[in-house]
Amino acid sequence: RALQDRVLFGRQIRLLEKTVSTQAEVRELAEAGAPSGTLVVAEEQTGGRGRQGRAWYSPPGKGVWMSLLLRPDRQPLSFAPQLTLLIAVAVCRAVRHTAGVDAGIKWPNDLLVGGRKICGILVESVGEDELIRYAVAGIGIDVNLEAKDIPPQLQDVATSLHIESGRRIDRAELIGAVLAEIEQLYELYRQEGFAPIGHLWEALSVTLGRRVTVKTPAGDVTGLAKALDPSGALVLAGDNGNMRIIFSGEVQFGG
Ligand code: BTN
Repeated sequence: RALQDRVLFGRQIRLLEKTVSTQAEVRELAEAGAPSGTLVVAEEQTGGRGRQGRAWYSPPGKGVWMSLLLRPDRQPLSFAPQLTLLIAVAVCRAVRHTAGVDAGIKWPNDLLVGGRKICGILVESVGEDELIRYAVAGIGIDVNLEAKDIPPQLQDVATSLHIESGRRIDRAELIGAVLAEIEQLYELYRQEGFAPIGHLWEALSVTLGRRVTVKTPAGDVTGLAKALDPSGALVLAGDNGNMRIIFSGEVQFGG
């Protein structure tokens, strides 16, 4: 209830004790005609999903596992990657304000603190006639997990807001901050397009200016990460001086 008072975007909120994945819950609501801004939050997910078919570890009580329904107005499907970057900027800002940690964005939308991941974002768009019919923005934030709560195989790559800030973070406050940021940036995006969002993304990026290897569907690409292009794709300067535009893939530092 405290949550409902704060939230602007979540006009309809469903809080679940346990579900397979909040992505599936929101998809179902979307198909049944739920309005833009509908939010599903779960205490625990038994089948949390990550990008590229990976599982997303979602233990009870200590994280924010949630999905938000967005219904952009006649937005081309090709703009879906921009929505993904917008969500990353919003969550990054909310996390920095609420927990006081120095989070940065790894292209396209992983949030890192000290090189370790604290948040994963999965935006799934459903299209019709080349337009976005709706998008489901899935956000997983490792909030109050302690070191012992992180599985051994993730110890080197994952961390939490609690571990990084040394304090307990109020999840309702964090969710309210995330929704307020998304709502604000979404409005900016509607009025001014992607350019201002892209600039905010660049300012929070931990990818630009670094040498990276991107695992793409067409193979590995190595180079210096230079910029975002106007569509939100990553511009890399290859070793032979050629510029490469990367639309999707997994960034690793170095190479
Ligand atoms: C990633 O980094 O691979 C993306 C992880 C996205 C996890 C969130 S948790 C809430 C929502 N429900 C899911 O099943 N996945 C997303």
